[in-house]
Formats: sequence, C-alpha cells, structure tokens
Amino acid sequence: MLRGTKIGLRARHDDDVPVLLAELYNDVDNSARADGRPWRPLPPGTKDPRLAVDESEDQYVSFSVVELEGGTLLGTATLWGIDTHNRTAHVGLGLLPSCRGNGYGTDTVAALCCYGFTVRGLNRLQIETLADNYAMLRAAENNGFVREGVTRSSAWVMGQFMDEVVLGQLAGEWKAKG
Ligand SMILES: CC(C)(COP(=O)(O)OP(=O)(O)OC[C@H]1O[C@@H](n2cnc3c(N)ncnc32)[C@H](O)[C@@H]1OP(=O)(O)O)[C@@H](O)C(=O)NCCC(=O)NCCS
Repeated sequence: MLRGTKIGLRARHDDDVPVLLAELYNDVDNSARADGRPWRPLPPGTKDPRLAVDESEDQYVSFSVVELEGGTLLGTATLWGIDTHNRTAHVGLGLLPSCRGNGYGTDTVAALCCYGFTVRGLNRLQIETLADNYAMLRAAENNGFVREGVTRSSAWVMGQFMDEVVLGQLAGEWKAKG
C-alpha cells in the first residue's frame, strides 16, 4: 500500500467494485464530468476497466483509495496513458460523494505523484479537468501542479461543450518541493 497522510492507495478488491459502481459510476452527472468517455450502463460483475482491473494493461494503473485509519473505501485513483519512452502519464481520481471536501483528494494526488515520480521514475505528470472543477484544480495546485493552458470546448458534458484546464508537474519540481 502507498501511504499518504490520511489515505492509502491499494489494489482494487472485488468487493470495492459494486460500491464504486453504485455510488460513483452510476451517478451519471458525476461520471460525465469526471470521465471523457460517454457514460453507458455497466452490469453487476462488470470487467470494464473503469472499475475492474486488467492486470495485462501496462499503460493504466488503478488503485482504490482507502482511509488509512480503518481502511474505509473512499474512491478510485488512476495513473493512465503511461508512456515509458517520454516518461509521462496522466492522473485521474474520483471520490465517493460522501468523502469529498475533507482533504482526501489533495492527499490522493500527493500519493499518485509519489507513485508516478518515485516508484515509476516518470518525468512529467499531467491532469486535465473541467475549468469549473475548483476542487480538482485546488487538489492539483496544492501538490505543485501548474496550469499550462485551456483547451476550449474540448469536453462534451451532458448537453454542452466545456473548457478543460491542463495542469502539469515535472519530477524536478516535485522533488524540489518535497
Ligand atoms: C475533485 C476531487 C477528487 C477533489 O477531492 P476533495 O477531497 O473533494 O478535495 P479536497 O478536500 O482535497 O479539497 C481541495 C481544495 O478544493 C476545495 N474544494 C473542495 N470542494 C470544493 C467545492 N465543491 N467547490 C470549491 N472548492 C472546493 C477545498 O476547500 C480545498 O481548497 P484549499 O486547498 O484551497 O483549502 C473530488 O471532489 C471528487 O472526487 N470529485 C468528483 C470527481 C472528479 O471531479 N474527479 C476529477 C476528474 S479530473
């Protein structure tokens, strides 16, 4: 398990999947905002990579986020698009609605940075989020990510195009901060 201050990142367990499906994925508004892919219903026992883990997939690492004290499931965290030539990857996370606003998101981004930079030796991590996702923007900036640009109308979200903010951080900046 990777340990942050309040959270741990551990492997996805089979019994996490129904909770994540019901409380996170099946909230269509939330899914449409948090994932660039279109929402579609997933059956119980799904093997869809958004919830289940495909261990043969090299470019995608999924964690379950848990409370360090007690081990309660808080949500999902992902390093995706891992490119071992350019040594880059993208960061994604989603917390169960009842677990938001307690600092867990900020701590989860920190633990993903540790995984990306220290465990995997990557040089650059990137986050894309909707321009009005203030909690995600702050969770990223709290960990040293800087805004690099805005992609206009790049996301189709529940009937409208929305702008996205691209944030990045380099390994040297993260180590210097550390
Ligand atoms: C985005 C998300 C991961 C952030 O995690 P979180 O635990 O809620 O965030 P934190 O408690 O660490 O708060 C981070 C900052 O955002 C602020 N914040 C939290 N919720 C907020 C809200 N609804 N509106 C505005 N600011 C908010 C906090 O005050 C904090 O600010 P500070 O560091 O300046 O004090 C979480 O809210 C979530 O899972 N949202 C739904 C899925 C999603 O949007 N995922 C990201 C897709 S790219």
